[in-house]
Amino acid sequence: MAKRRHNFNAGPAALPTPVLEAARDSLFAHGDAGAGILEISHRSADFEAVIADARETIGELYAVPETHEVLFLQGGASLQFAMVPYNFGPGGAYIDTGTWSSRALAEAQTIAHATGVWSSAEGGYRAVPEEASQPKIPADAAYLHYTSNNTIYGTQYGYTPETAAPLVCDMSSDFMSRPIDVARYALIYAGAQKNAGPSGVTVLIADKRYSRGFAGAPTTPKILRYVTQAAKGSMYNTPNTFGIFAVGQVARWVRDNGGLAGMAARAEAKAATLYAAIDAHPLCTGHAVEHSRSRMNVTWRMQTAAQEKAFLAAADAAGMMGLKGHRSVGGLRASIYNAVEPASVDALVALLEGFTG
Ligand SMILES: Cc1ncc(COP(=O)(O)O)c(C=O)c1O
Repeated sequence: MAKRRHNFNAGPAALPTPVLEAARDSLFAHGDAGAGILEISHRSADFEAVIADARETIGELYAVPETHEVLFLQGGASLQFAMVPYNFGPGGAYIDTGTWSSRALAEAQTIAHATGVWSSAEGGYRAVPEEASQPKIPADAAYLHYTSNNTIYGTQYGYTPETAAPLVCDMSSDFMSRPIDVARYALIYAGAQKNAGPSGVTVLIADKRYSRGFAGAPTTPKILRYVTQAAKGSMYNTPNTFGIFAVGQVARWVRDNGGLAGMAARAEAKAATLYAAIDAHPLCTGHAVEHSRSRMNVTWRMQTAAQEKAFLAAADAAGMMGLKGHRSVGGLRASIYNAVEPASVDALVALLEGFTG
C-alpha cells in the first residue's frame, strides 16, 4: 500500500483508518447487496439501512431530542448560507468571525434583510466574542447565526451563545468534536469534509419547528425548503449515497472511541501539546488570542516568510502534508481533526522543536 503522510489538511481532511477500510470493502460489495455502495439504488432496502444507521448514530452521539431531526443535504455548507435566510426569513443577526461567517451574511443579504451584530475583522479575525461579553442581539432578530469554529483563523467558541432568538450554527469544522446541547439550537449545519466525512454531504440537525414547518416566502424554490427535504427523508433528489455511508461510518467510529466526550478530550490533549510548542518556540507566534484558540485548526506565524517556507519544506521531507496557512491569512496551520492521531501531532511538535530557521 502507498505510504500515507501525517495529514494536517483543513478539508477534505484525514479520515479514521477503520472508516477508509469499511469504505474500501463496501465499494466492491456492500454487505449482501450484490453490488458496491456506489452502485445501489438510494431507494433500496440496503441504502435505507445505511441512511437510517447514519441518522441514528448521529442522533445517539448528540442525544438528539424528539424535537429535532438529522438531515443529509448537498451543496456544502455554502448552500446553507442561502437556505437559512430562505427558511428563517428576514431579520437574521450575524456574528462575523471570519470569511465563512461574512460569506454567510453576504449571501443572506442577497435574499432578505440581515445584519452583522459583531465582527473581529479589524483585529484580523483573531478572536470570537468572549463568553462574559457576548454581543447584544436585537430583541426582534429572526435568528442568530454564528460559526462555532473558524477553520481559516484557528478560532473557536468554547460555549454556546446566549440568545432568545433561534440559534443557527455553522459547525462545519468542529462537528463531532465535542458534546453540545442540541436542544439549544434551531439549526446546526456542517459540511462533512473536515471532521465528519467526505465532501459533498452536509449534515444538519434541525429543530422540527423549522424542518417540518415552513414560514418563508412563497416564491422560495421547493428544493431550498427544509420541509421538502425533511418530508422525503433527505431523499427529495438523489442524495450523496456514498457520502452518507461514510458519515455514518465516522459517527460509528466516534461512538466506539469514547463518543463526543472522548473526542473532546483527545482534541484538547493534542491542541495543548501543539500550542505549548508554539508558545515556547522563539520564532513562533500564535494567530488566535488565547481565549479563542481552536482545538481543531491551530494557526501560527514565524518571524519571516523565509522561515515559514523552510519549515514547510522540512515538514514535507518529514512526511507531513497540509501545513500551509490559508491564502487569506498566510503563516502555518495544522488541522488536527478527530482522525489525526496524537502521534502525528507529536511528530509535528518534534519537528518544530528542532527547527531553528
Ligand atoms: C466553517 C466553514 N464554513 C463553511 C465552509 C464552506 O463549506 P463548503 O465548501 O462545504 O460550502 C467551510 C469550508 O471550508 C468552513 O470551514
